[in-house]
Amino acid sequence: MITSSKTILREKRLTDAEDDYAWEIDSELAQLDAAPPATTTFSQYLSDYANQLRNSLPTSHRFAIDTLGGKHIGNCSYYNFSETKGEAELGIMIGNRDYWNRGYGTDAVTTLVNYIFCQTNLNRIYLKTLESNTRAQKCFQKCGFTPYEHLVRDGFNFVLMEIYRNQWQEQQAET
Ligand SMILES: CC(C)(COP(=O)(O)OP(=O)(O)OC[C@H]1O[C@@H](n2cnc3c(N)ncnc32)[C@H](O)[C@@H]1OP(=O)(O)O)[C@@H](O)C(=O)NCCC(=O)NCCS
Repeated sequence: MITSSKTILREKRLTDAEDDYAWEIDSELAQLDAAPPATTTFSQYLSDYANQLRNSLPTSHRFAIDTLGGKHIGNCSYYNFSETKGEAELGIMIGNRDYWNRGYGTDAVTTLVNYIFCQTNLNRIYLKTLESNTRAQKCFQKCGFTPYEHLVRDGFNFVLMEIYRNQWQEQQAET
């Protein structure tokens, strides 16, 4: 469990499934993630969810994002973790709209970036977001990410952003 100034990042648990299902069937959230909304029933979703919790992959780690008061508001993760390449991809979603534009995303991403650079030897963290998702880009810029490439995939325009360990260290020194 990692406590920051606005959020707590903690291990996922089965009781998160109800929130996660509600967010995954939400068409606006799916659109912001360039993905189709989930179409499975809740009972099927729950069964898959329990399996995933039991069989976590070594190349990824998913955290729940809670407020300091313990309210589950979203999730963040790293995946495609590669020791050989020295990099991993980062993802985040604040599913609860009441918590958008209030600094929770910036706090959670900053915390996860700090965690990755402190706990691993990785040299680079990258992510992708839709070009149209200017709020997400602003959030990631505030966390020190810079755009480095544009990509068209499945008809969607993405911007790729990255942060290197030395850039993160410079930011740490400034604060
Ligand atoms: C993207 C997301 C993680 C950002 O987290 P957040 O807590 O809402 O963002 P923050 O409040 O930390 O930062 C957002 C910044 O963007 C600004 N912003 C908001 N809407 C904006 C817009 N349309 N264009 C540009 N900037 C915008 C905010 O003012 C804020 O900047 P400021 O602190 O300088 O005022 C969150 O909104 C989210 O998960 N949204 C839904 C799902 C989604 O977009 N998923 C894709 C993620 S790749």
